[in-house]
Amino acid sequence: MTLEFTLTRNPSPASAEARAAVVAEPGFGRHFTDHMVSIDWTLEGGWSDARVEPYGPLQLDPASAVLHYGQEIFEGMKAYRRADGSVWAFRPEENAKRMQRSAARLALPQLPVELFVEAVRQLVEVDEAWVPAGGEDSLYLRPFMIANEVFLGVRAAQTVRFMVIASPAGPYFASGVKPVSIWLSTEYNRAGKGGTGAAKCGGNYAASLLPTQQAAEHGCAQVLFLDESGSDLEELGGMNVVLVKADGTLVTPESDSILDGITRNSLLQLAADAGHAVERRAVTLAEWREGIADGSITEAFACGTAAVLTPIAALKSPTETIGDPDAPAGPVALALRKQLTDIQYGRAEDPHGWMVQM
Ligand code: PLP
Ligand code: COI
Repeated sequence: MTLEFTLTRNPSPASAEARAAVVAEPGFGRHFTDHMVSIDWTLEGGWSDARVEPYGPLQLDPASAVLHYGQEIFEGMKAYRRADGSVWAFRPEENAKRMQRSAARLALPQLPVELFVEAVRQLVEVDEAWVPAGGEDSLYLRPFMIANEVFLGVRAAQTVRFMVIASPAGPYFASGVKPVSIWLSTEYNRAGKGGTGAAKCGGNYAASLLPTQQAAEHGCAQVLFLDESGSDLEELGGMNVVLVKADGTLVTPESDSILDGITRNSLLQLAADAGHAVERRAVTLAEWREGIADGSITEAFACGTAAVLTPIAALKSPTETIGDPDAPAGPVALALRKQLTDIQYGRAEDPHGWMVQM
């Protein structure tokens, strides 16, 4: 399916100086580019009115379904500037497909993959000057979809809007690649069997905010959730988790209530290419605890678009600390991180054809 995009340029874009200041030191998620993309959907008419327009507040009726029942999904992806100035997105079709899976679970319409990728491309093209060039900075892209039907009945909305906004971004963790401690949520779960855990919907993140606050109170950067039984690892508030064994095997939770991370899939592919064994299976907390104690688990890391790959030094809970909070980053995590970012920034060959020029 193709739609023609119209472009309405922002009549008062940020000044070159203001933009340069943001791009030089973007932080995470605080600054936005001059434009945004919107595409509307109705049950009768399907997708229409694809447009690039000035970034700005939405006019939303207070009775819009999204404000009451949380019928919303989103994606997170990045565009990277290479040394030659060109700008490339990482596996945008994977984000498009995952958004379709999230849409199916949240009873939202499926945006065609080509239209998703084109929407992102249009925004990157018009706001190209906002793509940072330095270090590990990039343009973070946030596609999302909201139910904007004005109706308080509880059913799937019949009018919806898809949007893309963009934000120059540095590392999610201010500490960069320095290992972090994470907090084990023993009190709360993020998702349950048959719930929305595998979908990227706002409600999952709302559920993670209180435990994330508790993590911060204990000096931890993120929270780790277990499954309902309290035995198996699931994922962090905004990242997947991977353990590394002494023999080089990578182990990561397989569960139908966690997000199928594109960063994790890519890192595991790179690890397999390099000869590591990779196991996707149920992983218990006890296995992590015992593996640290007997030396059979040597590293752990978190991974996701925003966090890239962040080593986990220790897992803390009210009753124990697994690992050493002062442990340095492990060699497997560091090597995989370098391989992935070299591909993303065009410093290394892209053997799987992951990068798409914008
Ligand atoms: N798990 C959760 C809950 C997330 O929010 C994210 C980030 O998007 C991930 C995992 C990692 O997914 P990805 O690597 O596709 O960004
Ligand atoms: C992402 O990595 O894109 C996320 O959505 C997670 C969040 C920590 C920003």
